[in-house]
Amino acid sequence: MQKVSKISRVEVLNYMEKDMLKAMDDYLKPIDTNWQPSDLLPKSEQEDFFDQVKELQEKAKNLSYDLVAVLIGDTITEEALPTYESWLLVLEHVNKDTNGGWSQWVRGWTAEENRHGDALNKYLYLSGRVNMRQMEISTQYLLADGFDIGTAFDPYRTFVYTSFQELATNLSHRRVAQFAKQSGDDLLARLCGHVAADEARHANAYESFVSRILEVDPNEMLVAFEDMMKKKIVMPAHFMREAGMGKGETYVHFSEAAQRLGVYTAFDYIDILNSLIDEWKIDALSGLNESGEKARDYIMALPSRLLRLAERMKPRVISDYKFSWIYQ
Ligand SMILES: [Fe+2]
Ligand SMILES: [Fe+2]
Repeated sequence: MQKVSKISRVEVLNYMEKDMLKAMDDYLKPIDTNWQPSDLLPKSEQEDFFDQVKELQEKAKNLSYDLVAVLIGDTITEEALPTYESWLLVLEHVNKDTNGGWSQWVRGWTAEENRHGDALNKYLYLSGRVNMRQMEISTQYLLADGFDIGTAFDPYRTFVYTSFQELATNLSHRRVAQFAKQSGDDLLARLCGHVAADEARHANAYESFVSRILEVDPNEMLVAFEDMMKKKIVMPAHFMREAGMGKGETYVHFSEAAQRLGVYTAFDYIDILNSLIDEWKIDALSGLNESGEKARDYIMALPSRLLRLAERMKPRVISDYKFSWIYQ
């Protein structure tokens, strides 16, 4: 009979508290000198503000329909930040003391993330291409609908999810930046580049939490990783909808636009999984119990299985779907 892991999640999370505080210094930037949305957008106090906006609008005209759709969907996802923050604050087994490492990390992370939706929203408002009322309805719906991402309130599952998600958002913002640059919109490219860089730092933080847990509670951490991959990582905005639509109906179209453009595809999902397997050195984990071994084997075999599926799946090339968010 295999020995059952004796260490509890509470013990592990308590042991990690000091890491959370260290993560603040390692993975978040000092606030006084950090970039702010207004660094990257036209300045309303300047005399040539309207000329700056005119130039922004001229450049925004060249962005493709799909790119604008993806950018709006990304913005709505960022603006649903209260959903993510409130979920992280009530995780089980973490120290909920407001001055504890976990609470401080969540607030620091939220404070950085909050700039993303703010910056992107202001850009879209100025661009002249967006029906802001319709977009705002979608944001309000997404906040009201919440999400169902399969982590429950388990920190282990949550850290797998957030590691994955931060890598996914890094990739998608980076790709939007590339497409914006190709279209000649340098301002948008810079903005998305700044957002992407934040996401990369955040990914490193959550990945480091998992690495640390793997050192002391590898079996349970692996089972949590396996469970999340069996459920598949769903995007935090999977309930996205527009006015008059059902929960999640718009998300399908947003996701198709992202796949058509190549901003985020099934192959990216596999690349992210592979990078997590490498980062966490899953292959090299030894001395596991039976469930840990099974989980490790499942995870190691998954990328090639997913690759076979992805190669058979062809994203829809053409769509006549018109988002209520976009004028043209
Ligand atoms: Fe973000
Ligand atoms: Fe993020």
